[in-house]
Amino acid sequence: MEKNIEVIFNNFFRYKNNRFYAEGISVEDIADRYGTPCYVYSYNSLLSQIKKFKEAFQGFNNLICYSVKANSNLTILTIINQQGIGVDIVSEGEMRKAFLAQFPADKIVFAGVGKKDEEIEMGIKKRIYCFNVENEEEIDVLKKYANKYKKKVLCNLRLNLDMDVDTHHYIKTSKKETKFGIDMHTAAKILKKNRNNRYIEIKGFHLHLGSQLKDVVPYIKALDIVKKFCNDIAFTPEIIDIGGGFGIPYSSMDNVKDIKEFGPAINNKIKEIGTKLLILEPGRYLVGNTAVLLCRVLYVKKRYNKNFVITDAGMNDFIRPALYGSYHSVLPAKKSSGRCIKADIVGPICETGDYLAKDVEVPAGIKKGDIIIIGSAGAYCFSMSSNYNSRPRPCEIMVDNNRTVTIRKREEYRDLWKSEV
Ligand code: LLP
Repeated sequence: MEKNIEVIFNNFFRYKNNRFYAEGISVEDIADRYGTPCYVYSYNSLLSQIKKFKEAFQGFNNLICYSVKANSNLTILTIINQQGIGVDIVSEGEMRKAFLAQFPADKIVFAGVGKKDEEIEMGIKKRIYCFNVENEEEIDVLKKYANKYKKKVLCNLRLNLDMDVDTHHYIKTSKKETKFGIDMHTAAKILKKNRNNRYIEIKGFHLHLGSQLKDVVPYIKALDIVKKFCNDIAFTPEIIDIGGGFGIPYSSMDNVKDIKEFGPAINNKIKEIGTKLLILEPGRYLVGNTAVLLCRVLYVKKRYNKNFVITDAGMNDFIRPALYGSYHSVLPAKKSSGRCIKADIVGPICETGDYLAKDVEVPAGIKKGDIIIIGSAGAYCFSMSSNYNSRPRPCEIMVDNNRTVTIRKREEYRDLWKSEV
């Protein structure tokens, strides 16, 4: 069982008298009231993460744009908006959600390797702040609509630095064999070609190295490459968008450097380059550890010498372990001082890969009806959920001290077939 859970949860989720609490409410009460599986968010934890991030980067002109893909719940977006942060979007759906949550257009940045013409048109029409451009042909589409609406469009070129970073290979985005970004040679060519264009203004560069980076070193390494490139081509970027990637602890053993170490180091490098505005696109850092997933034990099965705890949450609700082999902490809602057993926590889906955790310690007396907590469930968890096996997606509940609100209703069975003809 995960020890030192405060490393992960910062005390917004914790045990009180051996019962697990989300802020001021026991998760068993939440599970009884709203059912399971159920995502539970801590409002005050979200505020605290936003504050820590802002403080870490203060001292240099910046625009923080929360990466909507991490969690696009409208309540979460609204809270983030209230804290003065903008958004990083990758689709028309995310753009629409950002506008629904009332983000000002001039705090929206649009990235993505495959922006459709309609999406580009909508972004220009709505006057979003800038486009992070991923290939040369995208510039032509941008020009077409900039011309149509007679607007000057601001762009940053997303660079592919062919740099390796220490994270899961599925979430590395700056190696040359990945689809992301433009190589430096082409970027130089695009800059030269579009220097005095009527409709396009290339202000600088966008980078996103990968996700769940635990150290500032790769960011500095990347900025050093950018600095040299800028010297070589005699171009001073007015803007550098460093992307996201800021890691969080999923376990108390995870050695993630404090965000306070990232801020000043990145700010200093940006100053050296002569850039005026730093854009940051944190996703996971802001929301990852602000939620847990509650699930209920359906069965406990012992076969040969292996234990399986079968829960009502599966890979459709929560796919990260199945997809990336990711570790998420597992905790019982009721802590016991007794013996523990090792078990795999698995879901009800018909896939061998459908597991939430492998070989983790659970109380020996675990039984049907008990509530299990899966940690670090705020980023890329609900947003990557699906209806696989025709399962309605879970509800999302937010806790603020002793108050709970539903921020997304549990899907109903009829939602499963409402679009089918
Ligand atoms: N900016 C860009 C251009 C991105 O592609 C991403 C994430 C972010 C910002 C936010 O990155 P973050 O700060 O959250 O690391 N589903 C995976 C993560 C995929 C990340 C994709 N891009 C996971 O569950 O780990």
